[in-house]
Formats: sequence, C-alpha cells, structure tokens
Amino acid sequence: MISDRLKRTQYYRAAMDFLETAERKRDWKIFDDIPWDKIDPSKNSDQKSIRIETFCAEEMYLPDYASHGARMTRELYGASCFQARWSFEESRHGLVFREYLLRSGMRSEDEIESLEAMVFAGEWVPPFPTVRQMSCYGALQEGATYTAYKAQKERAELEGDLVLKAIFANVASDEAAHAGFYRKLVEIELAADHGATVRDFAHVLANFKMPGDGLIPHYHERLRVGGGGITARQFMEGVVLSTLRSLGITRAELKSGQAHNQALPTTLSAEAAAK
Ligand SMILES: [Fe+2]
Ligand SMILES: [Fe+2]
Repeated sequence: MISDRLKRTQYYRAAMDFLETAERKRDWKIFDDIPWDKIDPSKNSDQKSIRIETFCAEEMYLPDYASHGARMTRELYGASCFQARWSFEESRHGLVFREYLLRSGMRSEDEIESLEAMVFAGEWVPPFPTVRQMSCYGALQEGATYTAYKAQKERAELEGDLVLKAIFANVASDEAAHAGFYRKLVEIELAADHGATVRDFAHVLANFKMPGDGLIPHYHERLRVGGGGITARQFMEGVVLSTLRSLGITRAELKSGQAHNQALPTTLSAEAAAK
C-alpha cells in the first residue's frame, strides 16, 4: 500500500509534468494559431454544422465539469491544479468551435443563444463518485474524444478546410494530453492498490458513456447525422485496448474484476464505490 502522502506527492509531480509540457510544447491560442482569414463559407454544409455544434455543446458543460472537478479534487492539490489548467484548455475547445460556427456563418448569434439555452437546461454530474473511478473514466473519455477529433482533423484535411484542420489538430492534441494525464493517475492508483483499481476500471468500462449522452437532446442522432461519432470498434481497439496495454492491465485481470463487481450485491457495490 502506498501512503496518502506519497500519493499526493505523485499526483503533484504528475500535474507539474503535465503543466510543463502544456506550457513548453502544446500551448496554442485561439486568436493567433487558427488561420481565421482562410475561412471559406463555400465549404459549409448542414452536416458539418450539426457535427461542430454537437462537439461545441459537449464542450460547453464546462461550468459543471469545472465545479464538480474542483470539489472532487479539493484535498489533492496537484490534481486540483491540473483541474484548473484542464478547465482552461476545455474552455478553448468550446470557444473555438463556437467561433468557427459564427465566423463561417453556419450559425447566427441567435442560434448560438438557443444552443446555450439547450446546453444549460441540463446539468452534467460526475458519473462516478471517487477520484480513482473518475481517473479511469477520464482515461477512457479523453481517449475517445481524442479519437473522434483526430478523425475530424483528417476529414478536414481531405476536404481542404484549413481552419477546421487547425482547430482539430489543436483540440485533439489537448485531448491526447488529457488522456495521458488520467492514465498516469490510474498508474499511481494501480501501484497503490492494484486489485481495487482494476475493479474500478472494470466498473467504469461497464458503465461508460460520453458526457453528452443522455444530456444533449438527440445526442446519438446528432452524431449519426453529423458524422461526428466513433465506431464501437474504434472505441474498443483504439481506446479501451490501447489504454489497458499502456496501463499494463491484462484482459484476464479485467475479466476477473468484472466478475468480482457482478458478484457484489448492488447496494454493497455502491458502498464500495463510495469509499
Ligand atoms: Fe475538450
Ligand atoms: Fe479533454
């Protein structure tokens, strides 16, 4: 077992490493690093507008992500500093999509107003109650978001949309870094308590859904019509299996974690999750 003090130190170190890379290698600016003067309304389409609007909506739950995240990590200073930086980076994602919708003319100010009203009609709440489970969730969710945005970057490149290509290159690189940070936290948790962390990972995977799923009206329909989703196969191979490989969790361990979780009565399982 790793002591709480050692764990806090490891979280702090992980946050500082994240911050150093973010500041030195990954930082980008909405106003300077997107070639807005190359915006080309002839590349607008209904499909594209639904796609970008859905991504924008999912990023716009920032007040909920940030407030719940800050509360959950309050006693882990490193993790709470990461949360602050993460919130800033996620704010750029919502803003850059919003600016693209407006500057391309695909959405008017009034339509963006309606989008805000739709988003803030519902509140996102963390799908899992502990930092360890939310770290497992973050590794998967950020990995899935990275996979979706990377595909969009390639699509924009094929379509010759230079503005969207630059946007997705930058947001995808942020999401990849976020996934990497959460994987690091899961590694720390695995070193502290391997079995319990594997069981948490299995529990999170079995109950995984994207933040907008169940929150953004017609979420799946929007992803299907807009072409913004990833396939189940992309999720399994590109996100789940690669995350497991990077964490050193075997499929046999995961299965045994799943079997353990299923064997627990529901109430006991919820109590264990709350610890
Ligand atoms: Fe994001
Ligand atoms: Fe992210």
